[in-house]
Amino acid sequence: MDRPKNLREALRDDLSEDELEELGSSFDIVGDIAILKLPDSLLDKKQRIGEALMQVHGNLNTVLRQVGPVKGELRTRDLEVIAGESKTETTHKEYGCLFKVDLARVYFSPRLSRERFRVAQKVRAGEVVTNLFAGVGCYSILIAKHSDPEKVYSIDKNSVAVEYMRHNVRVNKTGGTVVPVEGDARAVVEEHLHGEADRVLMPLPDFARDFFDVAVETLGPEGGIVHFYDYGEEPDLFEPSLKFIREAVPGKGIELRDKEVVRSYAPRLYHVVLDLEIKSR
Ligand SMILES: C[S@@+](CC[C@H](N)C(=O)[O-])C[C@H]1O[C@@H](n2cnc3c(N)ncnc32)[C@H](O)[C@@H]1O
Repeated sequence: MDRPKNLREALRDDLSEDELEELGSSFDIVGDIAILKLPDSLLDKKQRIGEALMQVHGNLNTVLRQVGPVKGELRTRDLEVIAGESKTETTHKEYGCLFKVDLARVYFSPRLSRERFRVAQKVRAGEVVTNLFAGVGCYSILIAKHSDPEKVYSIDKNSVAVEYMRHNVRVNKTGGTVVPVEGDARAVVEEHLHGEADRVLMPLPDFARDFFDVAVETLGPEGGIVHFYDYGEEPDLFEPSLKFIREAVPGKGIELRDKEVVRSYAPRLYHVVLDLEIKSR
């Protein structure tokens, strides 16, 4: 039998037109696993929907349903297997790097791929970079592979994420450049990484404002660049973040080098990034 072109075609005998409409077409693929959200009205058809997704995408081995939102400090989510092999671990390829992840125990989103590469391209040879919320090491490893930094200190509080980060650093041959550190970003910076970095990454929009003072403390005396992630609401996506930043470090020279929408998050709400040059620590 020919492979169906898309989910709609694969499910046309199983779901009504209204149900197909409700299902939509949005899902993520991470390695050989697909993750999708389902409305309650389609839960009794979840297994068939999962199998259909596997028919459409021949290299999938597992389909997971996201049961709840990404939540808590560690940004993890509850998942259930609805088709294929019972597993949540996979390896994802991105810009020539391999990232092994357990989707139920660590944060990972393929939707940040373009943003990770954008930041990697900004890094100049010899820079010391500190990633305050490094997860399984995606930004850090991309930076080490595509630019030529001296060090990329890579902190995460989730011990499971740090285990995967260590594995990913080895597999991508970035040991010696990417330095995984397990712990709370504030405590690690205060104890070990104070005043060293040319560039700081803060890829945790939910808590970035709480850690902005830590990012500034992480920079060397000459200052440097902070990639500050936040949420922005229409119609003014960036100005509230900028206002917060100016008030958080009064008297410091701050220049907005770049600003981008990373992705849409909810109606009128966006995940945004501001690239800031802080002129002195
Ligand atoms: C949104 S994820 C970013 C993951 C990664 N940068 C990526 O692109 O895949 C945020 C990460 O911050 C970590 N985290 C949360 N609070 C933290 C803290 N206080 N100190 C260090 N890491 C923290 C979480 O465990 C999670 O892995």
